[in-house]
Amino acid sequence: MLDMRRTGGGVGAELRGVDVRHLDAAGFAALHAAWVAHGVLLLRAQTLDDAALIGFSRRFGALDLAPVQETGRRFVPGYPELYVVSNVVENGAPIGSLGAGEAVWHTDMSYLPAPPMASLLYALEVPPSGGDTWFCDMHAALDRLPAALRARAAGHSVKHDGTYNSGGYVRQGVTPTDDPRQSPGAVHPLICRHPDSLRPMLYLGRRRNAYVVGLPLEESEALLDALWAGIDAPEISYRHRWQVGDLVLWDNRSTMHRRDAFDAASRRVMHRTQVKGAAPPAAA
Ligand code: OGA
Ligand code: MN
Repeated sequence: MLDMRRTGGGVGAELRGVDVRHLDAAGFAALHAAWVAHGVLLLRAQTLDDAALIGFSRRFGALDLAPVQETGRRFVPGYPELYVVSNVVENGAPIGSLGAGEAVWHTDMSYLPAPPMASLLYALEVPPSGGDTWFCDMHAALDRLPAALRARAAGHSVKHDGTYNSGGYVRQGVTPTDDPRQSPGAVHPLICRHPDSLRPMLYLGRRRNAYVVGLPLEESEALLDALWAGIDAPEISYRHRWQVGDLVLWDNRSTMHRRDAFDAASRRVMHRTQVKGAAPPAAA
């Protein structure tokens, strides 16, 4: 029997008393079911080196290679699956991505046709304050839409921008544009079904340069602004205050996340893996 409790926020659960390095098949099945049911799963006090983080992540499925860092560098030598989220600068070069500023609400890599199904983020060094990560539940976000707004959204698809990452940095090899109609990205249905649970959810990805395909730009902007207006509601979100050793895994279809800024003079080092996913199917 797993010791599972709600996070106290609007999404997510904490699983206690588990060392993910030593989980048998039944234990992993229960953890997996909890991750699907709760969207965000927190496991504190883990002791994972890179190989162990990758090994545990692989139990969810094949891993994506990490996206190239903002400087064009790949990450940890020997571990192409590992993405480093950090503000630390060594020998004049950042060791990771996203700096110390805010990272705005987003779903990881939804600018690809088949975004990752899960992301696993492990805290190696955390600042004394700031740098909290917030999660929100996109099933609840859909449920809370006023009926008229939901009807306006139904049947539409959104182009998810591939120009900027959540820290506002331009992605490797992309010529920046701020015209949402011209920017590169993948198109996904605005209201999707969760591929595992089949529950309907809102799928927004990120706000900047998003475009509701086929609408005049002003109408697209107005619809997206209306849909985004409910995302900050405390009832559907959870604020995670990091401790060293925290492992947080999120369902990268049914949740979005953002990160608070923190003091650039302090150190924050996180290692992330991502599990391959499939294109999210449209709701019927
Ligand atoms: C990520 C991400 C935010 C954070 O790893 O995908 O958005 O809190 N991280 O570091
Ligand atoms: Mn992210």
